[in-house]
Order: sequence, then C-alpha cells, then structure tokens
Amino acid sequence: MKTTGGSDDQKRRAAERAADLVSAGETVGLGTGSTAAFAIRALGRAVEAGDLDGVRGVATSFASRQLARESGVPLLDLDEVEALDIAIDGADQVDSAGHLIKGGGAAHAREKVVDAAADRFVVVADPSKVAETLDRAVPLEVLPAARTLVSAGVEDLGGDPVLRTAERKDGPVVTDNGNLVLDCDFGELSDPESLAADLSATPGVVEHGLFVGLADEVHVGTADGVDVRT
Ligand code: 5RP
Repeated sequence: MKTTGGSDDQKRRAAERAADLVSAGETVGLGTGSTAAFAIRALGRAVEAGDLDGVRGVATSFASRQLARESGVPLLDLDEVEALDIAIDGADQVDSAGHLIKGGGAAHAREKVVDAAADRFVVVADPSKVAETLDRAVPLEVLPAARTLVSAGVEDLGGDPVLRTAERKDGPVVTDNGNLVLDCDFGELSDPESLAADLSATPGVVEHGLFVGLADEVHVGTADGVDVRT
C-alpha cells in the first residue's frame, strides 16, 4: 500500500502497539491505508506464531482484504458479523477532540461501518496527522449520477468540491462500492459535528469522511514510542 505523511517507523510503532491489544478469539476490523497495513501484518505474524487462535479479521477494503489474506489473517465478510471487538484504522487527520477525517484511500464508507460497530475503535497515526482543528478536504463517496447535484449542495454548505481522479489513469477514482469521490475543502472545521450532519442529510452522499466522536483511542507513533490519547 502507498505510504503517505510521516515516517514508516512512526506508523509501524503505532500500528504494532495497537495490534498488541487484540486477544485470541476476537473479531477485528482491519482498516485501510499504509498505517493500518502495519497492523494487519503484525496480526498475521501473531496468528502464525499461534498467539491469536480464533481471531477473525473484517476487511474495510479490497486492499486490506488482499493484505490480510497474504498475511495469514483469517477473514469474515462484513455482512457475516453482528459485532466487532476492536477495529484498528488509520486517519488522514485527527483533531484535539479525537474527531477524524478519513477517506484518503476512498474506503471511508466501509471503514465507518466497521469502526463504528467495534467495541473499541483504535486509530493509528503518525504525528503528521495530528492537528488542533480539522482543515483537510473532506472526502465524500457519492453516487455517480448524483455527482453534479451533490457538488452544488457542497458549495451551498461553503465547500469547494473536486472530483478525485486516479493518478495514473485518465479518469475518476472509483470506490470498492462503484461510486465516485469528491474531495471537499471547507477550510477550518469549527463545528465538525454540524457539518457531518449536513453532509449526511445530502441526498446522493453515500458516506462522508468525517468520523465525529467515533474514536475510543488515538495511538500516535513518535520517534521513540507511542503517544496514546483517550
Ligand atoms: C482510507 C483511510 C486511511 O486510513 C487514511 O487515508 C490514512 O492512510 P495512511 O495510513 O496511508 O496515511 O481513511 O480510506
């Protein structure tokens, strides 16, 4: 998986510490992105060592499912689970209240289902993701046919929507669910909760990347350890 932001060592420290929280027999949400990937690999090593008998992963994307398979983490489909014990997932930005912007990997719709269903949602990040106030563009997964109407709705809310395009292809990014992504710049988010409610109420928005009040813990990998925020 593509690496973004801080150093791999910082990401790995945060992710491996979070993977240590998983116990045998648990159902674990497997996030998407370069930081969550370190946790998936760590879980695979623990399964191989016989330390996590009965553990089952629930992937949040095609990419995390592939990595879990390669790493030897047994999997359940999302529609097979009624509850999850823990979810470990990355973030594009986390504020001082623990609210998140996610969706840099266009996986935030399934990530939100999995992360919200987990008894314990652990965010893994490096220091480049931490901010006092959220100010990154908010990804929206939108129905392709609703793209123009959703863009107009975002502008009415004071945002600037940009269709996400694939880096090496002449076309838009298409999510695992067959939808498009609008990255919407709203500047500094003084009231993420209210913006989240407005975006949820916009027809054609499948899911937005604001994760307000969902994280139980944020593990930030540092130069020599892990800073845990609850
Ligand atoms: C995917 C996500 C990722 O968790 C987020 O983009 C962080 O990725 P990375 O760990 O590679 O920086 O929300 O939809």
